[in-house]
Order: sequence, then C-alpha cells, then structure tokens
Amino acid sequence: MRRPLIAGNWKMNGSKADSIDLLNGIKAGIADIQKASVAVCPPFPYLYLAEDLLRGTAVAYGAQDVSREECGAFTGQVSAAMLKDFGCTYAIVGHSERRMFNGETDEIVARKYMQALSQGLTPILCVGETLDQREGGKTEEVVARHLDAVLDAGGAEALARGVIAYEPVWAIGTGVTATPDQAQEVHAFLRKRIAAKDAAVAESVLILYGGSMKPDNAMELIGRTDIDGGLIGGAALKAGDFLAICKAGDANA
Ligand code: PGA
Repeated sequence: MRRPLIAGNWKMNGSKADSIDLLNGIKAGIADIQKASVAVCPPFPYLYLAEDLLRGTAVAYGAQDVSREECGAFTGQVSAAMLKDFGCTYAIVGHSERRMFNGETDEIVARKYMQALSQGLTPILCVGETLDQREGGKTEEVVARHLDAVLDAGGAEALARGVIAYEPVWAIGTGVTATPDQAQEVHAFLRKRIAAKDAAVAESVLILYGGSMKPDNAMELIGRTDIDGGLIGGAALKAGDFLAICKAGDANA
C-alpha cells in the first residue's frame, strides 16, 4: 500500500514573514491529517524557518533544487549535505522550470538525483511534457526519457529511494489541470516502465501528480489507482488550501 504524499513547492514566493505565517498555518491544521505524508519545499533562505517551526511535527520539508556537485567552488549552489544539515527530507530535482530557465539537461537532473540520494535525501524527480509535445503525440517518449535518465544512472534501486512527480508543463500554474484520465494514463505508463526493470519497485514507488492541483480537483485525481499524491505549487501558498489537499490525500490513504 502506497501512503499518499502531498508536497508543497513554494517556488520563489513570499517573504520571511509570509513563510512564518504559512508554516504556522500548516502546523495548526496538521493534527487533522492522519494518514497522508505532508511536506513543504520553501525557498533555500527559509529552510531554517522550517527546521525551527516544524520541529516535532509530522510535516517534513525539503528544497526545490540541489547541486549536482558534492562541494567546492560552485558559486551560488547548495549541496545535498547542506540540505541534510538543515534537516531536509526531500529535494525536488528536474522541475520543468529549472529545465526551461536554467538549462538543466537529463544528465544534470540525474546527477542531482544521485547527489541527493548520496546524502540520504529523498529526491522528487519531476517529469512531464510541454503542450507541443503532447499535441505532437510525444508525451510517453518525453516522460520515458526523463525517467530513463535516472534509471540509467542508478537503476531501479535509485528510483526505489525517491519519489516521481508527473507534471505536465501545460498544466503548471495555468489553472488547466490534466483530467484524472489523462494523468492516470501517464502514471500507469510510468509505473509499467519501472515494472519492466523491477516489479516490486514499480509497486511501491510514489508517483505524484503536479499541475494546478487544487482543493476542488485533488480528491478525484488522488483517487485514481496510480496517482499517489500531489506536488502543489500555487495552492501550497495558502495554508487552508494546502491542508484541504492534504485531507484529500488522507481520504485516499
Ligand atoms: P502549480 O505548480 O500547482 O502552481 O500548477 C505545480 C508545480 O510546478 O510543482
């Protein structure tokens, strides 16, 4: 049985004061979430607030990115060891915004994934197609390529220690959500591809959906067989909305 995970990706939003409010808001409602796992990914400078305010709660936290390098002269980068030092559980890797705006290739993403694992972090690997790719019938080819980069680098054992997030680029921040059928289809495809390498890993690995997941569509999406939770952007910035999505996770646990 896969326990649903709801993870908030705050992206580059909010101030120190906003982050404190949001963390406290989530903390105040978390007792109602009994079964789903819950995590937040604030911007790097605010991770120390998560460490401080979430101590002793059931809310885990992580970073939105991690360096592919271990340490050294890499100005501006943050290592997996540093994230571990601040108590992070997760690191998102390969988000489409980083692939698009920071030129991250599959090879870079796979190295980040392996770096995160090397420090005992749980990487959340984002995969997903653009609208052009979907319309061109290339969805499966694209998500397979994103997935295979990690399978080639670390095998099914590496996937077993991470989480996958299917995030169609056309659904991110647009208010257009993949229909539960569209999402389920891709999730099932990913699980089948993993099963071809290792059936047990395919059965246990969490595959989250991300892309305009909101309180009013979360229940239906997470209710699908192969959708094990959500990676939430916009709706993770309001404690009430985020907690409502966590409740949908709980209901499907
Ligand atoms: P969104 O973002 O929920 O705002 O669409 C999801 C994501 O990019 O992780």
